Amino acid sequence: MCGIVAYIGAGQAQPILIEGLKRLEYRGYDSAGLAVLDDAGLRLARSVGRVANLEEKLEKLGGFRGTIGVAHTRWATHGGVSETNAHPHRDDRAGICLVHNGIIENYASLRKYLEERGHRFTSETDTEVLAMLIGELYDGDLEAAVQAALREVTGAYAIVAMCEREPDVLVAARKGSPLMLGIGNGEYVLASDPSAIVAHTTQAIALDDYNVARVSRDGFRTSTVDNIDVTPRVMQLELDLEQIELGDFPHYMLKEIFEQPAALRNTMRGRLDTKEGKVVLGGLNSLAKELVRARKIILTAQGTALHAAMIGEYLLEDLAKIPCECEYASEFRYRNPIIEEGTVVVAVSQSGETADTLAALHEARDRGALALGVVNVVGSTIARDTDAGVYLRVGPEIGVASTKAFVGQVAVLTMISMFMARRRFMSPEASARMIAEMEQVPDKIERVLSLNDEIRRVTERYVERNNWLFLGRGYNYPTALEGALKLKEISYIHAEGMPAAEMKHGPIALIDDGMPVVFIANKGNQYDKVINNIEEVRSRGGHVIAIATEGDEQIREVAQEVIHVPEVADSLSPMVTVVPLQLIAYHAAVLRGHDVDKPRNLAKSVTVE
Ligand code: G6P
Repeated sequence: MCGIVAYIGAGQAQPILIEGLKRLEYRGYDSAGLAVLDDAGLRLARSVGRVANLEEKLEKLGGFRGTIGVAHTRWATHGGVSETNAHPHRDDRAGICLVHNGIIENYASLRKYLEERGHRFTSETDTEVLAMLIGELYDGDLEAAVQAALREVTGAYAIVAMCEREPDVLVAARKGSPLMLGIGNGEYVLASDPSAIVAHTTQAIALDDYNVARVSRDGFRTSTVDNIDVTPRVMQLELDLEQIELGDFPHYMLKEIFEQPAALRNTMRGRLDTKEGKVVLGGLNSLAKELVRARKIILTAQGTALHAAMIGEYLLEDLAKIPCECEYASEFRYRNPIIEEGTVVVAVSQSGETADTLAALHEARDRGALALGVVNVVGSTIARDTDAGVYLRVGPEIGVASTKAFVGQVAVLTMISMFMARRRFMSPEASARMIAEMEQVPDKIERVLSLNDEIRRVTERYVERNNWLFLGRGYNYPTALEGALKLKEISYIHAEGMPAAEMKHGPIALIDDGMPVVFIANKGNQYDKVINNIEEVRSRGGHVIAIATEGDEQIREVAQEVIHVPEVADSLSPMVTVVPLQLIAYHAAVLRGHDVDKPRNLAKSVTVE
């Protein structure tokens, strides 16, 4: 969602804030704004569009000088995309300015109350309401005013406020949206995620819900909204600047697709014991007994992570023989779910901050489920709110369309399944065989990546078509969903994914002459059935793009286009078959001239419901 960055120290705030905004821009990018305090007071600039537009505007204004400031890149929730709705928002009476990520749910009643007290609003946002509320309660102490205002607020927020009358203080707070305080040498950087902090310091604290931080040049204090002191836990950020730079790639998405072999090797490093035929997951050891005795597993997630979780459902049932269900977190949380004894809930999330996934996790945990996290971002809320978990270790993912995190999620879910399977029904030999196969997956992905030019040429032939189908069976049914989602997300082409057999029950009516239909047709358990489905499409004029197994030349008789991937066990195949689908989506977006890394209307981390 929105990105927040704030600075206080000895350096000039504006360049530090702009650089931070650029690092956070993947979180939201419909408008941006920045405010700096100088001797004359608050200087503020906002603009619609990208951070680059804000930079231009600042240049025209001659730039702001000052060593304290707040900045924001927005993904609209309340109020359309406009300069007046962009952050920071102000309360001019008290000289307060605020940036906010999240949603203030009771903003309408608060706004009415404030209007009755003479406040005049210039925007449609909930954030301006919070700024005015802080201003209304301000009595010479910004920290106290923020605490008092937040006691009146329901909803989710990460905020940073500053005030003309206290030019040496930033006050930050969080509930439900991430916020970190980077502790440098005589300077502090507050930001929504570490990418805007690591250029300055690797020491940071992640604020907990209902925590407030008062930061001045001499030090900081953390407390609760009820003003009770909180002892901060300082952590070391493990993120290299290099990991978040583009390098020679034109887009983060392409970089991350190509990083997948290395990312996966990292995910598996030290976790696969080939000799003993065992999977070693340090994070799960303390709960191994409970996991082995689990009676049911619920996997929950949103977006791409949901597709990985669906593959997890197949894996856990197939390998560990535990009944599983996989659900959209947004549905699960509100449907009064039944959690019986022995239920384990697994939240799958790249960011570890997705609001619905987090809420579903809390719901299940409160009803007695054991909670596991399959998360990429270390120290994120989901990682902290689970009983145990396994990190993806795929490195930061910047491209809004998730790629390497998907492969990492599937790999971790495979390892969790094997961890349980080996303790239940799987023989050491079978486990050793699977581990050996899994270790080869990164090399197999590399082979698919070497087909990049060929995949671009295939995409070129169909890029003008506005309706696509993605079909697969078994383990590759979720892969088909993921292929369709990738194409929709970044190329804005309408695409549907579904089980190949389901096509007959309606969607087949869509197939007309030349409609591209992508089949995941690798040599797996249901290969023959998939071939039948291909025939059905072909006989209605559809153009088949088959993702097939190397050596399968016969498939050319039924498919117009064939992209060969290395042979791989059915249960491990999604990690390989998804790669050509990611590349098709990428090339389609580039060929159509879209901004691959910042697709319209999307945000990387969805921290509101
Ligand atoms: C957003 C992103 C998707 C992502 C989903 C879940 O919609 O644009 O790429 O799959 O959120 O995010 P998570 O961080 O929980 O994996």
